[in-house]
Amino acid sequence: MMQVVNPVRYQDFSLERATQVVQEFKDQPGALINALHKLQDTFGYVDEAAMPMLAKLFNLSRAEVHGVTSFYHDFRRSKPGTYTVRVCQAEACQAMGSVELTEAIKQQLGVDFHETTADGTFTLERVYCLGNCACAPSIMIDKQTYGRMTADRFKSLAESLSAKAKGSN
Ligand code: FES
Repeated sequence: MMQVVNPVRYQDFSLERATQVVQEFKDQPGALINALHKLQDTFGYVDEAAMPMLAKLFNLSRAEVHGVTSFYHDFRRSKPGTYTVRVCQAEACQAMGSVELTEAIKQQLGVDFHETTADGTFTLERVYCLGNCACAPSIMIDKQTYGRMTADRFKSLAESLSAKAKGSN
């Protein structure tokens, strides 16, 4: 029986809260990336409304903040689903069928990478090595890693998680 993870809970975005959580980076030149990570860890994504505040805090133009945020694909620009599914695309997993697995997961969820299912339950992302190569192909759902993943195992896992997400609403 696979362990079913509890969803990561994010705070609702507010500019006031966002301003508070990035204050620790205020006098650190070059800390924009850290501030963006902090915002994403807190709210699950980097809200557009935080851009002018970040530009002011780091003495940058808004265009520069936008540039950094869009250069790093790690930063989401919209609220993620209840669960974030990361499918490993690196070599060891590819050798064990991650390309086919990825296709099956995309079909099962009906989304591509960086997209969220219509019911808001899953966001799909790619990742390059989860340090679980011996049990390839690997995926991660929120903070839980699953090895030797197959399309069938993913299907039943996704169904359990969907049921759990609906039950917790
Ligand atoms: S290559 Fe996929 S876990 Fe290392």
